[in-house]
Amino acid sequence: DVARLQQTMALSEVMSSAADWYRQQLKQAPRAVEYLKGRGLTGEIAKRYSLGYAPDGWQGLEAVFGTYANDEIAKTLLEGGLLIQSEQTDNQQTARRYDRFRDRIMFPIRNPKGQVIGFGGRILDQGEPKYLNSPETPLFSKGNTLYGLFEARQAIRAQEYVLVCEGYMDVVALAQLGFPNAVATLGTACTANHVRMLLRQTDRIVFSFDGDAAGQRAAQRALEACLPLMSDDKEIRFLFLPTEHDPDSYVRAYGAPAFEKVIKEAMSLSSFFFKIVSQEHELTTPEGRAHTHHAAKPLLLSMPPIALRTQILREVAIRTNSTPAELESFCGLTVAPAP
Ligand code: GTP
Ligand code: MN
Ligand code: MN
Ligand code: MN
Ligand code: MN
Repeated sequence: DVARLQQTMALSEVMSSAADWYRQQLKQAPRAVEYLKGRGLTGEIAKRYSLGYAPDGWQGLEAVFGTYANDEIAKTLLEGGLLIQSEQTDNQQTARRYDRFRDRIMFPIRNPKGQVIGFGGRILDQGEPKYLNSPETPLFSKGNTLYGLFEARQAIRAQEYVLVCEGYMDVVALAQLGFPNAVATLGTACTANHVRMLLRQTDRIVFSFDGDAAGQRAAQRALEACLPLMSDDKEIRFLFLPTEHDPDSYVRAYGAPAFEKVIKEAMSLSSFFFKIVSQEHELTTPEGRAHTHHAAKPLLLSMPPIALRTQILREVAIRTNSTPAELESFCGLTVAPAP
């Protein structure tokens, strides 16, 4: 409805004005600039990603929007998650509304049109939480957003693949070092929506999560999100980094050619599928092979009837000492003969 439309328009203007202000504040914050330099980022990349800085104060955005005592102003800022309204009830209206982002490096998050819809804010020193994200708002929902997609779109088209990482820093560091075709799922699982958005841009995805246990789980979730959307013209791969690395730290430690090489050697979707459904030891006993069938069944059933599904099913069957017909029947994929 119209009221709702006006409201979200106002919200997007507020987000964009805030992003501009954070960007200007970065120029006046040597500590923040030093932090970014210390992480190997140049001014050029900071500009490309509109990186900013939220100063350390409770009412910083009043400089842009006016006093938070104004309910109209506060309403939109609260809705956009830029302000926090404290739970306390006293008569000091202004004191009860304060900036969510304080003393943080600001990463504006854009929608595919390029509008700023949210922010991620990184602490400069040690502290908790390391990253603070915008809450879900009428404009911003994490499950429908990929950080860096707007900035990476041209490069994805040109390179004919997209790199999917976990973090803001991975995206900007990769862009800095020659991989401008990277995006990030903002610390959440890769959803079917994410995969759909990616497949609208390219047929080739390389998932490149952190090498730790969380990254491994993220890769498995990504596989599960991809299977229902697979077709035979798509190429999806999984890159596994050493446990202690993420794409940012890896490319800095070993250089762009080394990262290029691990991209080329990334695991195919079918190999990762086998890895997920079976461990080597499981294939040596009937119990283990049965377990593998149970693990494979929901994944196979989630796939459309493409040639790759037939091939994966055949491979799982052979490795588990069964026939494809047996596994098909176990999965309920056998088409009953017409009466
Ligand atoms: P750096 O330490 O700056 O290199 O960050 P990173 O991206 O390597 O961080 P990490 O691997 O720990 O997390 C990956 C992503 O998860 C981050 O980019 C954030 O989007 C998200 N994340 C990490 N820590 C937090 C947190 O404390 N709170 C929230 N909400 N998200 C986080
Ligand atoms: Mn991590
Ligand atoms: Mn990192
Ligand atoms: Mn990381
Ligand atoms: Mn198992």
